[in-house]
Amino acid sequence: MRKGIILAGGKGTRLSPLTNVISKQLMPVFDKPMIYYPLSTLMLSGIREFLVISTEYHQDSYKDLLGDGSQWGIDISYAIQDSPDGIAQAFTIGEKFISDSNVALVLGDNLFHGNELIPKLEQARKQTYGATLFAYPVNDPERYGIVEFNAKGIVCGIEEKPKKPKSRYAVTGLYFYDNSVIEYSKQISNSNRNELEITEINKIYLNEKKLKVQLMGRGTAWLDTGTIESLHEASSYIRTLEHRQGLKISCPEEIAWRSSWISDKDLEGLASPIANSGYGKYLLRLLNETLNEKELHKPHSNQSMND
Ligand code: G1P
Repeated sequence: MRKGIILAGGKGTRLSPLTNVISKQLMPVFDKPMIYYPLSTLMLSGIREFLVISTEYHQDSYKDLLGDGSQWGIDISYAIQDSPDGIAQAFTIGEKFISDSNVALVLGDNLFHGNELIPKLEQARKQTYGATLFAYPVNDPERYGIVEFNAKGIVCGIEEKPKKPKSRYAVTGLYFYDNSVIEYSKQISNSNRNELEITEINKIYLNEKKLKVQLMGRGTAWLDTGTIESLHEASSYIRTLEHRQGLKISCPEEIAWRSSWISDKDLEGLASPIANSGYGKYLLRLLNETLNEKELHKPHSNQSMND
């Protein structure tokens, strides 16, 4: 059993004034709130029980948007991170929620896209022992947690925002851990920037030889939404693909429906009240798909009908 945590804390001051009254992770990324993307990523891995961690100020907005999750055949509960004391704090805040399960954590402003991702996500969810991270090549490795590989290509180190990065492979904001993460999160202390760093937890798993790093290939997109420019770029990326394919990216209703977590009738019930929006029209269109189309667009299948 694996549960999912979405960390949507922080004041988002780099996006001010947009974030003066709206939480950063509720900002639009083209046609849907930012949090739909990381939520969809975890849903695609097969997780159905979630904790959304936000500031107290924004918690009601998240509850209004996502409810208890039952409309999408999932469970969502909520917790508060009072001050931005680091990503690793998610596990002490979420200790009761995690209980004796394994857990996945995704940062609420991280966008992942690409078909090759889904089998990797499912595999990470099913792994019962240790931790799985995802590494992605970037142009600006000084800004991230960076993986170091030895001559055999085996991970031998992880450094947080290194001045002299030992590779271009950044650790993305998507982490799968076994239950020891709760204990490990209590062992670490604050870094120079006064945060409980997720990298410190990852280093414990590495030292214990319980860390697996999956590379995200060039066919996958990992997008940042930390600045106005990157937010705009993420929106453009989603718009371009959605416009071209006529398929929505990270649509929780669609994922729930294609996974049979909700019925046709449930989907219709979600779509009808918003039928005057493009989003609602899209959901209604799904219901009219032919059997062949259904098979082709399954999130868990990237094979063509002739394969
Ligand atoms: C955090 C992590 C870093 C990781 C990054 C991914 O950085 O500390 O290891 O590579 O998320 O987005 P931060 O957003 O705190 O600068």
